[in-house]
Amino acid sequence: MRTVVCPGSFDPFTYGHLDVVRRARSLSDRVVVAVAHNAAKKTLFTVAERIELARVTLDNAGLDGIEVHEAPGLLTEFCAQVGAEHIIKGLRNGADLDGELPMALMNRAISGVETMFVLGEPQLSHIASSLVKDVARHGGEIHGMVDPKVAEEIQRALAVQ
Ligand code: PNS
Repeated sequence: MRTVVCPGSFDPFTYGHLDVVRRARSLSDRVVVAVAHNAAKKTLFTVAERIELARVTLDNAGLDGIEVHEAPGLLTEFCAQVGAEHIIKGLRNGADLDGELPMALMNRAISGVETMFVLGEPQLSHIASSLVKDVARHGGEIHGMVDPKVAEEIQRALAVQ
């Protein structure tokens, strides 16, 4: 059984993330979505909320063979804990590759875990969690970018900020 890990901040989980997880699932038997801590980012949602919103999106999409867990420490240690052979991440553009390359090289250097990249659906390449939140913050339309429940929770979280 081939297990892969799809890591990220997922603040919140978008349809771009869903596309990547779906592609990862087509390449493996079991996908573990790792909701990680990124020290460089201040998040809108707590880890528990980010896990729940990822699960809701995946459930509504009808995907099986996917688990969502918190990955509190080093990602490579999490990979060892869940028995994952690879990390899979999505790329939208060259800037994504520039950001991902150092992490992939570091993860391989410290653990031997290889990162594989999949290209996201071009029609979803405008979707980024940060931009979705910004559009919503200014009253814009985010339909078709996140699950309806996620859209609702973004509005709720922004309202109490
Ligand atoms: O969605 P993001 O914020 O681009 O994902 C980055 C993330 C969370 C995958 C990365 O920051 C990470 O792996 N954090 C866990 C801690 C860790 O292992 N750091 C060393 C990475 S080389």
